[in-house]
Amino acid sequence: MLAGPAGLLQTVALDAETGTRPMPLPELLKGRLRLPVIGAPMFLVSGPELVIAQCRAGIVGSFPALNARPQDVLEEWLAQIEDALAQHDAAHPERPAAPFAVNQIVHGSNERLEHDMAVCLKHRVPIIITSLRPPNPDVVAAAHSYGGLVFHDVISLRHAEKALEGGVDGLILVCAGAGGHAGPLSPFALLPEVRRIFDGTVILSGAITTGRAVLAATALGADLAYMGTRFIATEESRADPRYKQMVVDTTAKDIVYTPMFSGVHGNYLKPSIAAAGLDPDNLPVPDKTKADYKTNRRSRPAAWRDIWGAGQGVGSIDSILPVAACVDCIEAEYRAALDALGAVAGPFATRAAAE
Ligand SMILES: Cc1cc2nc3c(=O)[nH]c(=O)nc-3n(C[C@H](O)[C@H](O)[C@H](O)COP(=O)(O)O)c2cc1C
Repeated sequence: MLAGPAGLLQTVALDAETGTRPMPLPELLKGRLRLPVIGAPMFLVSGPELVIAQCRAGIVGSFPALNARPQDVLEEWLAQIEDALAQHDAAHPERPAAPFAVNQIVHGSNERLEHDMAVCLKHRVPIIITSLRPPNPDVVAAAHSYGGLVFHDVISLRHAEKALEGGVDGLILVCAGAGGHAGPLSPFALLPEVRRIFDGTVILSGAITTGRAVLAATALGADLAYMGTRFIATEESRADPRYKQMVVDTTAKDIVYTPMFSGVHGNYLKPSIAAAGLDPDNLPVPDKTKADYKTNRRSRPAAWRDIWGAGQGVGSIDSILPVAACVDCIEAEYRAALDALGAVAGPFATRAAAE
């Protein structure tokens, strides 16, 4: 029962025979992924090396356009990625690389947006991931003009509705526990609410650091999982080696959710806050009513550079691996979890057994 653009629904129609939703994976992704995973864009962490390795390994790789500095570097990075993926495809026609994505921060403060979108349009970047504000019609129209997709990240049903009104092709639900800026909602709450209005591509994020969690995300109704933190601890990530090691050494209790460093709530590693001379368990709450926000901003340590972002899933990350080995590991975890599902469901696996 389609009621609007981009698969906006009144109620989600299920297949009469199987009781499942039709698979809404866009054509661009069909047959191109080894696992239902997007490597999420991370400020200062994701560069072309990470993206190339992720796409070669069979998952979508992505980076924030703002990581390419100065802005002319964006075109160099895109050419580097395109060349590397074309070479991979020529050498391995039986397992072509996954498509890649560029993240655009849609916010008045991003003075590069117009330039960066023009470069993405020229290079026909397969997927544009927009964050912070819903994408303006120009961004969506530019991507659609060459058959590109726009996925937008949201933390609430209201944001999801606004993004769908803007004509995006998919929604990324940034749920509790996600690294970097994250919403407060449990995926068990937000995903079903979004599914009531949208049967298009839904991508889930928040502490998804294992193959088992990827499977769980799809069991909950997501089409793809969005994984950032797991890829900080890879050889190809641009994170400081101490940052990678901190991701390996920490567990969920070492993550703090605070608006202190960027003005927006996000998850950060407590040891990096302590290293910057602050008490992570007694952070001041920024007073938006009084604050001279810009002055405060200068006097606090810089988010991302000094204060390192990571999600609550850090406790499942045990080593720093090349991306190829990391994705092998995620696939092994995913398949093991799939095989074990029957046993996990136990007496509830079939209706007859439960009766
Ligand atoms: C260090 C770091 C930097 C991030 N930078 C960005 C960014 O520039 N743009 C963006 O849309 N999301 C950014 N994110 C959020 C991720 O894209 C994604 O939502 C998140 O990593 C998913 O949760 P997980 O880390 O628990 O897997 C960042 C996350 C981290 C950990």
